[in-house]
Amino acid sequence: MFGFDAPFSAILVGTSGGIGNALLAETTKRVAVKTAGASGHVFAINRQKQRSQFTNVTSLTANALNEDQLAETVEAIKSDLKHNQFAPIRLILVAVGALHTSHGKGPEKSLRGITAHSMQEIFAANAVAPALAAKHFLPLLPKSGRTVFAALSARVGSISDNQLGGWYSYRASKSALNQILKTTSIELSRTRPDAICVGLHPGTVDTKLSKPFQANVPDGKLFSAEQSADYLVQTLSGLTKENSGQVFAWDGSPVPA
Ligand SMILES: NC(=O)c1ccc[n+]([C@@H]2O[C@H](COP(=O)([O-])OP(=O)(O)OC[C@H]3O[C@@H](n4cnc5c(N)ncnc54)[C@H](OP(=O)(O)O)[C@@H]3O)[C@@H](O)[C@H]2O)c1
Repeated sequence: MFGFDAPFSAILVGTSGGIGNALLAETTKRVAVKTAGASGHVFAINRQKQRSQFTNVTSLTANALNEDQLAETVEAIKSDLKHNQFAPIRLILVAVGALHTSHGKGPEKSLRGITAHSMQEIFAANAVAPALAAKHFLPLLPKSGRTVFAALSARVGSISDNQLGGWYSYRASKSALNQILKTTSIELSRTRPDAICVGLHPGTVDTKLSKPFQANVPDGKLFSAEQSADYLVQTLSGLTKENSGQVFAWDGSPVPA
């Protein structure tokens, strides 16, 4: 149950992508566990309307970079929680991210590949969107008890682990995300001392994002989205508030800053 000992509801941002969709399937299974009292529910937020095959999911439409739309989403979630007496939100997962720009421009091999526009777009998806999700959705978490905010980061965001260079915008935007998560964890601990705020490295996963780079992945190291989501749920389930502010890989190991 993601480490929660009572029914909980969850907000997932970016469930149209490979890993986000697999995390949605995993989460719906876990919030569906009914015990006495309120039952859990999942709110899935995407920039395009998404049809869900699950009964315990409310699909909401908001652009992760549009604050008016995010604020409207918060009101819709509050109203739904109240009217249906769903269990409180204890889990927020952000699976939004981009390696290529919307014009298909791939990660830079060298400084010559950088443009202001493409760099801004990649930073917006990987760092700004999770920061705005934290700003708008964290106030929905109860003040006491275990709660989790996690955003999908990447090992290449680790500065000390950078052996190969390249991928300027993606690397730097994930490093920025990791700093945002660390800073959020400090602010969050003042009002919600039991909260956990982390980044997650999902491994190399067979999705649209990684397609052009899969040929070089060693045998057995390319996970399906379902496999990765299962590993990530196990990792999240084992985390405690002492882990807040860090980044963890799919196998539960910490990723160095
Ligand atoms: N796949 C891997 O090997 C791998 C490895 C390390 C880290 N990650 C990270 O895992 C996360 C999920 O990746 P994935 O592999 O599942 O990729 P994916 O299938 O391409 O999904 C990307 C998701 O991000 C959303 N998105 C992208 N740009 C956005 C924007 N500007 N505004 C709002 N939503 C946006 C997409 O929404 P639309 O459907 O609306 O475009 C989609 O839901 C990313 O943060 C990625 O960096 C992946």
